Amino acid sequence: MSNPSLLILAGDGIGPEVMAEVRKVIAWFDAHGTSFDVTEDLVGGAAYDVHGTPLADETLAKALAADAVLLGAVGGPKYDVLDFSVKPERGLLKLRKELDLYANLRPAQCFDALADFSSLKREVVAGLDIMIVRELTSGVYFGEPRGIFTEGNERVGINTHRYTESEIARAARAAFDLARQRGSRVCSMEKANVMEAGILWREVAQKIRDEEYPDITLSHMYADNGAMQLVRAPKQFDVILTDNLFGDILSDAAAMLTGSLGMLPSASLGATGPNGYPRAMYEPVHGSAPDIAGQGKANPIACILSFSMALRYSFNLGDQADKLEAAVEKVLADGLRTADLLGPAGGTAISTSQMGDAIVAALESLH
Ligand code: NAI
Ligand code: MG
Repeated sequence: MSNPSLLILAGDGIGPEVMAEVRKVIAWFDAHGTSFDVTEDLVGGAAYDVHGTPLADETLAKALAADAVLLGAVGGPKYDVLDFSVKPERGLLKLRKELDLYANLRPAQCFDALADFSSLKREVVAGLDIMIVRELTSGVYFGEPRGIFTEGNERVGINTHRYTESEIARAARAAFDLARQRGSRVCSMEKANVMEAGILWREVAQKIRDEEYPDITLSHMYADNGAMQLVRAPKQFDVILTDNLFGDILSDAAAMLTGSLGMLPSASLGATGPNGYPRAMYEPVHGSAPDIAGQGKANPIACILSFSMALRYSFNLGDQADKLEAAVEKVLADGLRTADLLGPAGGTAISTSQMGDAIVAALESLH
């Protein structure tokens, strides 16, 4: 049987720097019986420089054929002058759209060694492990009609918050499937008190739960209360299911409960692909960080944890993902920090590649 395939798109800025560390981790797994067929290609500004487009057709074809895509980051000041249609970010959006990645998974997980890094008290966040499932391809960011129109003697800006039953249902199934692998609890957040799309969201989520996932405990919460509860007592949640707009905001807020942008992975999943794996793209939440690019300062952990999510959610290799996360936990517990993790107390930072090496060494020592 052939190995599952991974397409790596390192992109711009610190993308290639953090991806080089993921390659070390992939090499370690390869030497220990878990192998992938890895190909690499260009995306974003790096693709524009060569092809005049941020996502070449042949790269998209490779992404559609791959079992998972691992992306670094795109963008940078050099490309700010480009026309909107060829901006690096368009490459990313096109990938999400063409792969139809409708479920965005954003974990908020607190590594014990970084609990004091949170803006909340240690006891509120220590041990936190929640997952936000955000619908990614519909809702107010995509609904029609949209635009800026003239009505009488003034302009009016219009966006449409629109969800079909099937769009809600597939996002809900993604959350319930995840809950089955985790703690079996889902809290769905909308504004059913003031929005019809929220009423439908609540109704459909409940129906899918009742008909297909009777083993899952589903609760509902208005999204504004959800925001309050996330900062008051985040550990009450396991999986949170929400729409595109609320998910954008709630996932950023939840992520910051646990500290640095350099620590945050994400996954975007779609329907089942050609080889039985879900269509999937894994990427750190952070961007290309032009202010530190090329200096060996970037924290590679967000990208490494994105690969860990690929192990878990694409390839059903939860044990290997646990091992990798334990290695990350170990280097942090040993006090190793890239510059972004130093905090006000200061200390000595290690480089991007030293962090990658330390995680591989930890994998070896825990093995
Ligand atoms: P950014 O996430 O690149 O950087 C924000 C701040 O966090 C910077 O000070 C940066 O140095 C720091 N930072 C980010 N990742 C880090 C890491 N791994 N280790 C240590 N420090 C890290 O966001 P910004 O500055 O708003 O955007 C820069 C470029 O990235 C822009 O062109 C933007 O469009 C693009 N971008 C791309 C994204 C993507 O590829 N998914 C997401 C966000 C922004
Ligand atoms: Mg956002």
